[in-house]
Formats: sequence, C-alpha cells, structure tokens
Amino acid sequence: MLNAKITGTGSYLPEKIVSNKDFESFLDTSDEWIFARTGIKQRHVIADNETSSSMAEIAATRAMQAAGVVANDIDLIIVATSSPDRVFPSTACLLQARLKINDCAAFDVQAACSGFIYALGIAHQFIKAGGAKKALVIGSEANSRILDYSDRSTCVIFGDGSGAVVLEASEEVGILSTHLHSDGEYQDLLYINNPIKDQKQHGEQAFMRMQGNDVYKVAVKTLGRIVDETLESNGLRKSDVDWLIPHQANIRIISSVAKRLEMPMSKVVVTIENQGNTSSASVPLALDLAVRDGRIKKGEIVLMEAFGGGFVWGSALVKM
Ligand code: ACO
Repeated sequence: MLNAKITGTGSYLPEKIVSNKDFESFLDTSDEWIFARTGIKQRHVIADNETSSSMAEIAATRAMQAAGVVANDIDLIIVATSSPDRVFPSTACLLQARLKINDCAAFDVQAACSGFIYALGIAHQFIKAGGAKKALVIGSEANSRILDYSDRSTCVIFGDGSGAVVLEASEEVGILSTHLHSDGEYQDLLYINNPIKDQKQHGEQAFMRMQGNDVYKVAVKTLGRIVDETLESNGLRKSDVDWLIPHQANIRIISSVAKRLEMPMSKVVVTIENQGNTSSASVPLALDLAVRDGRIKKGEIVLMEAFGGGFVWGSALVKM
C-alpha cells in the first residue's frame, strides 16, 4: 500500500486587515469583548477583485514551489470551501483553469470548517488506492462574502485566506491516519441557507447563522474525543505528538484541546489572534506558517483537528 506525504505547503492572506476596533464604529461590540471571548484581534479581508479561487491559486503555487513540482505534475485537485466563487463549476475547476492544468480530476469538498481535514482524508485515500500520485489539497475561504455585517455574533469572528499542501505518493510514511465524522442532527446550530432559493422565496440574501454558545459546548466535547480516537488508533501516547494544529475557531476551544493532550501552548500553532476563523483555510494556513518559520521540522508528528457546521469534525495525524 502506498503512503501519502506532505511535500510542500503554501498560503495566502489578503492585504486588507480589519481590526476589532474597526467594528466598534458600526456595531454594538468592543475590542475587549471580541478578544476576551475569542482570542481574535484582527482578520484579513479580500479585495473586490479577489475570490476563493484567486487566493487558492497563490497558495497552491507557493505549495508547488515548496514541493518542487510544476502544475502539470498534479493529477488531483481538491478544494475545501464553503464560500465558493460560483455554485458550480467547483472552485477546484476554476483553480485548475487558473493553474493551466489539463485533464486531472478536480472537485470541491463542503465540510465547513472541517473541510481541509476532509479533503486531506479523501486525497490520502486516492493516493493509497493508486488513484493519484500528486494531489493539491486546499482550504480557501472568502468568508467576508457570506457574513451579515449587522450580526455581531458572527461577523467579528471570521476572516478570509487560503492554505494549500501538495500530497504525494511516497515510500516514506506521511499521513498516519485521518478520522472523519459528522452528525446532521445539529444542522440548525450553524448554517447558511441556499442563496438562490432564499432570494427567490423571501427576497433575502443568505448569510451565515450560528448559535455560538451551543456550538462551543459540542465542539469542546467532540474535539476531546477525536484526540483520544486518533492516538488510540495509532497506538501512540500524548507525549508522542510534537505539534497540535487546531482549527482556529476560538482560543478557549484550542486551549481545552491542548489541555486534553497535556501539551503546553508553546507546542500549539495559534494564528487566531491575527487571522480570526478562516474556516477550512485555518489548518493549512497554520501549518504553512509553522513550517516556514522553522517550528515544524521533518520527521515530527503533527496532530491536526477541526470542527464545523454540520456538525462535521475530523483529525489527521501526520509525520512531516
Ligand atoms: N460583541 C459584544 N457582545 C456580543 C457579541 C459581540 N461581537 N456577540 C455576541 N454578543 C453578546 C450576545 O448577544 C450575548 O448577549 P446577551 O447575554 O445579552 O444575550 C452575550 O454576548 C453572550 O453571548 P454568547 O453567544 O453566549 O457568547 P460566548 O461566550 O459563547 O461567545 C462565541 C460567542 C465567541 C461565538 C463562542 O460561542 C464560540 O466561539 N463558539 C464556537 C464557534 C465555533 O467553534 N464554530 C465552529 C466552527 S465555524 C464553522 O464551521 C463555519
């Protein structure tokens, strides 16, 4: 059976930064409230001429450069996004055209904030089965396009960005395991309605809606369980994990998972303060940051986890 290894990472954050203070001028909120409840200080927001696919193009190009592969080596593109450029064609197809890659399989995965973990899990299965040799796996989100800027309980939390990895068939062990779960019973706690249907029936634009407090409670419990599941299925101890790369939803959720792993926060890659919650892009953005600044080294064991609307949750244990 073939192994799948991450051979390159890349990311992109839009130039424009919106600080917590910027919200104070038009919302009943404060820098103090946002930082204390979430750990967020600022987030990046795309320009009018940017989209999920334009950000993905930059992140993917950087990942391919890091891996030493060219666009036409790629035989599979999976983009995780809940804020696609179009309903269809998929953002993966639009990215394929931007990268001028001919003929490979390209599709989107919609698993909200867990999208990148889902995409990585799917690409891993493709490679293990011999269905692909060099895959681009991307999380890309233009969250600012799906937020209601009069709803203080959501709009202060999310940011835009894109993160990518190249996953290659390899003799060496790379991805140790991925674990994907969902429970659609929770669909009404975090959702965006169908924009086409809503506009037609109610003349309303569809925006993200979240019962944050209820989501928080389930997220903490569920992520604790998936950490245990991931370690048990690999026969590893907590101390075998070198780095935790959590989905960046809330610093309090991140800290609770680190505590479950008995891991000091110095071993957790945290980007939420500067990036906010970039949904499916948050894990690959954090991974790229820690690879490029030299924190994560070859051979180290990284635990990635995420939780999002659905609910969907998952983890990936990776030897870098
Ligand atoms: N500024 C000031 N007050 C606010 C704001 C704001 N931006 N937003 C909400 N409030 C108010 C509420 O109206 C409420 O007021 P009330 O007591 O008068 O009713 C009060 O603050 C407390 O609200 P809660 O929702 O209970 O606040 P909480 O401490 O739970 O923090 C938060 C909210 C940050 C959203 C938190 O619940 C959270 O992080 N939830 C998890 C989010 C998550 O993990 N999502 C999954 C991934 S995202 C995805 O899949 C797309």
